[in-house]
Amino acid sequence: MRAYLVPLLATAALSRASALPNEAKQEKRAVSDWATAYTKANSALSRLSLNDKISIVTGTGWQAGNCVGNTKAVGSIGYPSLCLQDGPLGVRYVLGATAFAAGVHAASTWDRDLIRERGNFLGAEAKQLGIHVQLGPVAGPLGKIPTGGRNWEGFSPDPYLTGIAIADTIEGMQEAGVQACAKHYIGNEQERGREQMGSNIPDRVMHELYLWPFMDAVHANAASFMCSYNKINGSYACENGGILNRLLKEELNFQGYVLSDWNAQHTTVGSANGGLDMTMPGSDFEKRNILWGPALQSAVQGGQVQQSRVDDMVRRILAAWYLVGQDQGYPTATFNSWRIGQRDVGGNHRTNVRAMARDGIVLLKNTDNALPLSKPKSIAVIGSDAIVAPRGANACADRGCNDGTLAMGWGSGTAEFPYLVAPLDAIRTQAQKDGTTITTSTNDNAQQGANAARNADYAIVCINSDSGEGYIIVEGNAGDRINLDPWHNGNALVQAVAAVNKKTIVVIHSVGPLILEPYIDNPNVVAVVWAGLPGQESGNGLVDILYGAASPSGKLPYTIAKRANDYGTNIVSGDDSQWDLFIDYRRFDQQNITPRFEFGFGLSYTNFTYSDLTIEGKPTSGPATGAKISGGVKVLWDDVVTVTAKITNSGGVAGAEVPQLYIGLPSSAPQAPPKQLRGFNKIKLEAGASGTATFKLRRRDLSYWDSGRQAWVVPTGDFTVSVGASSRDIRLTGKITV
Ligand code: NOJ
Repeated sequence: MRAYLVPLLATAALSRASALPNEAKQEKRAVSDWATAYTKANSALSRLSLNDKISIVTGTGWQAGNCVGNTKAVGSIGYPSLCLQDGPLGVRYVLGATAFAAGVHAASTWDRDLIRERGNFLGAEAKQLGIHVQLGPVAGPLGKIPTGGRNWEGFSPDPYLTGIAIADTIEGMQEAGVQACAKHYIGNEQERGREQMGSNIPDRVMHELYLWPFMDAVHANAASFMCSYNKINGSYACENGGILNRLLKEELNFQGYVLSDWNAQHTTVGSANGGLDMTMPGSDFEKRNILWGPALQSAVQGGQVQQSRVDDMVRRILAAWYLVGQDQGYPTATFNSWRIGQRDVGGNHRTNVRAMARDGIVLLKNTDNALPLSKPKSIAVIGSDAIVAPRGANACADRGCNDGTLAMGWGSGTAEFPYLVAPLDAIRTQAQKDGTTITTSTNDNAQQGANAARNADYAIVCINSDSGEGYIIVEGNAGDRINLDPWHNGNALVQAVAAVNKKTIVVIHSVGPLILEPYIDNPNVVAVVWAGLPGQESGNGLVDILYGAASPSGKLPYTIAKRANDYGTNIVSGDDSQWDLFIDYRRFDQQNITPRFEFGFGLSYTNFTYSDLTIEGKPTSGPATGAKISGGVKVLWDDVVTVTAKITNSGGVAGAEVPQLYIGLPSSAPQAPPKQLRGFNKIKLEAGASGTATFKLRRRDLSYWDSGRQAWVVPTGDFTVSVGASSRDIRLTGKITV
């Protein structure tokens, strides 16, 4: 539902908004189709020697080239030295590229237009820099374990939400001309032991949770996939014929190529025959061991790898290159990853970051309309998370420290901040206009925080929780978080401030859920603002919400539990054999556990009423069979049911609502979760206005994976249709009988 695009900004806000540069435009090139791309690829392939082919599939080696991954050029077909570069929230290692909102924050906007635009802007910057393959977006980790270090690079532990977000991102990126790389495929849910551990995922769980969003990525015509470090059911992802050949290439009919995560390849022959198409970076990190290159050539000559397999690798790689039109005047990479330099490619893309910083904020608590603020006399702003780190936002390589305000996690999925607007920066600007006095305590010392807060009308306490990739350990967190508490004694800071100030507002920047119990019911904590991982425009987006320039419209993309144990999943040592259908809200629903804030929850400054549910159409029961397209059996993607609901803004100000549709499968579907997200809209409405939420259910949305039949099956019986403002605030129900 994208129709209701009424302006959200109140008049006071318009002046601030219009100070922004003009809206940046999305690049919309036609992406070709695979059949045309394959015709071109076949003709080029016929002109290549075995040597040429080997150089197309083998990286030049670690740090042997400007990009984090490179392959050799083949002049005879006009094929360039391919440049592969991270990452999912911006171009890594370039100063002057945009630091967008992180994936998890993009998900919390539930705004498909913004998500697609973000993808498009990411791709446009990559293209300007001559990057052919941008290493993202991320659907693995999915987020099974709330402390998983890289969850924030992806979107949500709900596979439907992640599936929509990854597809929109890929389409946006590829329309800009860059090849997307869906990663990390698959079952890489934690950092601890990621390069040795096995993820032993049962077939149905694989399909309904972990494979689901990757299916969307294939359907969106992702040019490439990155196989992950871990093993799946006993064999390494990058040589696992079951997941590469059978699931991805046969079942999902993936036409693009699979490249390895960096040094995730273990064998020459096994990986080639298992379905790997390109090895990255082409050597190990000591620049010694080279598993393809001459070794692959010998394996072909010795007959262990068929020539046709190498042709298939090359055909896939060339087809992807043609698909996005990179054979036509594509720029050459001129930046250098190993010496970070300035390249101003951000243009006006900050408009997307600002909008996401604002619309991804989830308001969790707002006693007696404490927010929005209206020209308060005095405010105390407290916490190291309120300011840019004194050493600078980019002081630590790959953001591997947590000193000032948190706007992205750490690791390869980061970008350099071109600038970073911290909460205090933006609050000061607003305070100046309002004549508000500001006192500060910009460290995390509880006593000093309380002193600053004591005599202020409001105290804004900023706390955070960081995580990242396991090659950097930050304050004892080896990638994965050690717990679900805020860093730097954030709970004590909030409690000390709330003890002396009756209007304490907590602002949280976090990579994922935190336990809020120590203060959530404290009557002096009048508001809790979940500000996520917003990217370079952090403070500006926050002020938009704190002062009511926009009504909050973000919704939680995961559950916030009362106790860490409630999630039922933990980082493990060794292999992980605990995989079931019940992660995040699916578990809370099934086990009847009351969360603190459920999946999909978020308050607004206005109210929405739901009415007039309509349900039209029904699927035929049974397995999906027949012709395949990218993404699997074609009929799985057919819209089979349309649900609509009337949404009315019954409150006093403009706002946006995210009506969500959940399906409960009939009891003939064995052991299915009580309800599963299968649709959402983001509807912007002026006070008093109404709009229609429209949910198109595809056949897949009403199916479960039947392992015995190896098919997506629509069960018979009554399907429950629940439409509501969160996974537990259901306003309308109906049913579909099949
Ligand atoms: C390893 C990470 O897992 C992957 O996400 C990244 O793209 C590569 N390193 C290259 O930096």
